[in-house]
Amino acid sequence: MSFLPQMPKLIDQFGRTVDYIRLSITDRCDFRCTYCMGEDMQFLPRHEVLSLEECARLVKIFVNLGVSKVRITGGEPLVRKNALWLFEQIGQLNGLNTLVLTTNGSQLEKYAAKLKLAGVKRVNISIDSLKPERFKKITRTGDLSQVLAGLRASIHAGFEGIKINTVLMRGSNEDEATDLVEFAINQKIDISFIEEMPLGLVDHSRENTFVSNTETLKLLQSKYSLLPSTETTGGPARYWRVADSHTKIGFISPHSHNFCESCNRVRITCKGELFLCLGQDDKIELMPLLRQHPDDDAPIIEAIINSMKIKPKGHDFDLKRAAPAVVRFMSHTGG
Ligand code: 5AD
Ligand code: SF4
Repeated sequence: MSFLPQMPKLIDQFGRTVDYIRLSITDRCDFRCTYCMGEDMQFLPRHEVLSLEECARLVKIFVNLGVSKVRITGGEPLVRKNALWLFEQIGQLNGLNTLVLTTNGSQLEKYAAKLKLAGVKRVNISIDSLKPERFKKITRTGDLSQVLAGLRASIHAGFEGIKINTVLMRGSNEDEATDLVEFAINQKIDISFIEEMPLGLVDHSRENTFVSNTETLKLLQSKYSLLPSTETTGGPARYWRVADSHTKIGFISPHSHNFCESCNRVRITCKGELFLCLGQDDKIELMPLLRQHPDDDAPIIEAIINSMKIKPKGHDFDLKRAAPAVVRFMSHTGG
């Protein structure tokens, strides 16, 4: 079949076209990163989570509505049983241009080659430290050597792009920005620094651990020649190219509002909630519609098109607020 570009059908009241969805396929994770989860997490019972068939159906509907980029997230998407089947289904959709994955890397040694074959173009792997003991402390259960084996398998699989995602936290890994960039340069891959976001309740005060990207950029500029890059991957990251290298450094700063204007994405949780903005609670429940209408996509299409009317102009994160701006966890909504 030939590639048929879709007419954009998802346009919000501010004129932004939504052509990118992020779908969390599980709230479960084999890690318990301190900035993401509490030590004890209650995960959702199976029937409250979209089945993989429901995920595939939903993505197909979105692609028919003009979505050309899909990111699969979690939790940790690769701990979901048969996750590979979903990647294979999505990878075959006519009209989809970019299938990408966000992962903690723990299962990549096993799956990287198969994911590449299924059509995954790029992978983002979270690595917050290159020191095994510190890595264990941050992730509580993670094993750095397993993640590095996953990274090696991904490099070997030949994805179009591999990027490390790093959250720097004061008093924890704030001193590793340069080491991580050096590592990315040596591996010929990219790296993004994500500012800690007040999503979900965790065991520390985020006001104390927050490291701003302005600070990280200043430090890196003192060590490297960084060339501002106009390249964008359709996300909220600002990129700099490290001179004489294959590496781009991205800075994802959710606390600055500047990227809301060009926001082209919506998020779908593993419960089938369609969130119109990461930092706002506006949502539509798609699971009941999917289950009430197993053979008729029309009501789902209508709900998605109508949801565009409630996509907010921007978000509102405030680190100093006692309660998190949004009580749901990143592992629930998907990064
Ligand atoms: N703030 C910032 N980044 C977070 N991530 C998970 N929770 C948070 C948070 N509260 C990161 C993960 C992953 C990416 C998708 O989001 O480390 O790299
Ligand atoms: Fe798991 Fe990612 Fe959350 Fe860490 S940040 S606990 S790897 S979902």
